[in-house]
Amino acid sequence: MVSYKDLGLVNSRELFKKAINGGYAIPAFNFNNMEQMQAIIQACVETKSPVILQVSSGARKYANQTILRYMAQGGVEYAKELGCQIPIVLHLDHGDTFELCKSCIEYGFSSVMIDGSSKPYDENVELTRRVVEYAHQYDVTVEGELGVLAGVEDDVKAESHTYTRPEEVEDFVSKTGVDSLAISIGTSHGAYKFKPGQKPEIRLDILHEIEKRIPGFPIVLHGSSSVPQDIVAEINHYGGRLKDSIGIPEDQLREAAKSAVCKINIDSDGRLAMTAAIRKVFVEHPEEFDPRKYLGPAREKLKNLYKHKIYDVLGSNDKM
Ligand code: G3H
Ligand code: 13P
Ligand code: ZN
Repeated sequence: MVSYKDLGLVNSRELFKKAINGGYAIPAFNFNNMEQMQAIIQACVETKSPVILQVSSGARKYANQTILRYMAQGGVEYAKELGCQIPIVLHLDHGDTFELCKSCIEYGFSSVMIDGSSKPYDENVELTRRVVEYAHQYDVTVEGELGVLAGVEDDVKAESHTYTRPEEVEDFVSKTGVDSLAISIGTSHGAYKFKPGQKPEIRLDILHEIEKRIPGFPIVLHGSSSVPQDIVAEINHYGGRLKDSIGIPEDQLREAAKSAVCKINIDSDGRLAMTAAIRKVFVEHPEEFDPRKYLGPAREKLKNLYKHKIYDVLGSNDKM
């Protein structure tokens, strides 16, 4: 058993309290390799933003959880070396079993998500309650989910949204004891969220209804990439074949961040940014074969994307 506290990590409790009171959201960026980790830490140190480093179960399989945990610990030390001890949470994204959550807690994660949203309500309550009971013994915070997002995440695919039912949230939160709640109000996972011409809409009316029922309770938005059109165009210009697609408008996310939404998950936009930078190098410098020559520019583009998200979307700069 490794305690996250010995690694210099924090859980999400205090961060969420401050974010709700301050009208901003904490960035939750996914990582599975060194360049992503460096980009996240550099961006958050340069903007003085707290951050949630997210590991999906797919990332855990890809990179190995021991390596990821040491990388997170490395991130803490790297931030100090860069001169700014920002608060860093290491979070399991979309945990689907009690055993997975337990294992992550034992490996030094400071926060876990148990995603029972695709299960019947009572099963979701029971599974979430069990994870909370275990996690709280170690002061690890837990995110639950109600409602189903459209899109793909790990092996779970949903064709359409099932919006969170505001009438369920109070019961869910009190029965499970979760520390935060992910809700479905129109965002969706992946790079193919909406076709051009469709009108993406975060249902702020449902969000406000939920807020009324659980005032001051931390709300999480998944699937919050915006699919920047200039980056998609760049990928396709340099030989990519991405289908036309649009994401969640950044101004809607900015609006949501002013409410009880205090954690916003962004993964796909980062993947797009790295891909664009790598494709550009491959086309413009086909003679290069040193990975640093294409992963370096990818890291730089990723850092700039994250800084933009922090300043212009989440508002989490200067909040450490
Ligand atoms: O919500 C899912 C995240 O974007 C993680 O994706 O399971 O492909 O690592 P992944
Ligand atoms: P995006 O696919 O919109 O980046 O969402 C990521 C996410 O919700 C991770 O849990
Ligand atoms: Zn998600």
